Formats: sequence, structure tokens, C-alpha cells
Amino acid sequence: MNKFIEIFTWNSNFDTGIPEIDIQHQELVKLLNRLANHLAYHADTPSFDKVFAELANYALLHFSTEETIWQQYFTDDEWNRNHGIAHALFIEEVHKIKSQQTADNSEEVMESIVLFLTNWLAVHIIESDRAMASVVSGLQRGMSLTGAKRQVNKELDAANKALIRSILDMCQNLSSKTISLIKEINHQCSHIFAYPGTNRAMSACIRSNKDIPVIIAF
Ligand SMILES: [Fe+2]
Repeated sequence: MNKFIEIFTWNSNFDTGIPEIDIQHQELVKLLNRLANHLAYHADTPSFDKVFAELANYALLHFSTEETIWQQYFTDDEWNRNHGIAHALFIEEVHKIKSQQTADNSEEVMESIVLFLTNWLAVHIIESDRAMASVVSGLQRGMSLTGAKRQVNKELDAANKALIRSILDMCQNLSSKTISLIKEINHQCSHIFAYPGTNRAMSACIRSNKDIPVIIAF
């Protein structure tokens, strides 16, 4: 059985502090990791599409949950309007990438989808959802909307934003490399013929990837 790779590893930096939203974000990350595994292990297009449809539907459900919560606190505030636009643009972009898929470029398009989803989700949660959730927390503590927004903006000063951006860029880079590496290892090891005279490099590959199927020749 193949190793399950995590292209997006959840950690507490992604918590917004609103349980309903955090649970749904974690579910989205799980689906995204499943999608990345389908890609890394060369699953056929229909099985990739099945997980993709599951993820797209879950994203719609999640956006509607979030928007109901934001509406309650932000009503017609600019932050709320922009957040709704970001969700709509996301759906549009994912479907745009998917529509470019043909029999010849299938794998390339699947990879673009996985990388776009990984990057968008990480950036959106850290930069937008968490900021909105902090404002909600301020309102619940009795602050005014303007005061809570000002406070959050102060916390997210320029230096912080630059740091967040560089870490997210690094994550995106790593996601891309992880998929390429897993695909390469999977490709190489599945073609190795292990026999008594096998050399050290081959043995190491087999040992370190013992879950990846290897053809044994006698
Ligand atoms: Fe959101």
C-alpha cells in the first residue's frame, strides 16, 4: 500500500478560534490531502474527479457556513463584501482551471488544481478568515466594529504581513516539490527489479519506500 502524503499539514496557526469554521477547514484540508495522493500515485482521472467534486461541494457548504457567521457580525461592512467576493472568485478560478483539462494535459491540470487549492486555502485562512475571526472575538468582548477592525489591523502590521507572506510562499514551494518527489520516487521504485545482486542504492530505495509496490524478479 502507498504511503499517505500530507501536502497540507494542519497546525494551530490555522485555527480561527471559531470551532464550526475550524472543523470545516480541517475537513477541507483532509480532502485536499486525499486529492494530492490521487495525483502523486497516478490515480485515473475519474477517481481524481470524484474527490475533486467532493472537495468542491464541501467548499460551497463551508463558504455558506462562514458567510452566515460573518453576516451576523459584519452585516454590510466592506470586509464582509470583500470576503464574499474572494469566495466567489475561488470557485470561479477552480472551475476555470478544471475546464482546461483534456486527455493530453490531464496530469498537468490536476497538479495545477492541487497547488492552487493548497496555496489559496493557506493564504485565505491565515490572512482573511483569522482576521475576520479576531474581529468577531473583539465584538464579543464588547468592542465596536471599527475598534475591533483597527485593533486587528494593528496586530497585522506590515512586518507581520511580510513574514506571513514569505512563510506561505515557502509552503507553496514545498507543496510543489513534495508532489514532484513523491511522483519521482513512486515511478523509480515501481520499476526496480529487486534480486540478490541488487546494489545499495536500489536496496535503500526499497527499504525507505517499503510501502510502494516493487516488482521482484527471480
Ligand atoms: Fe473564508
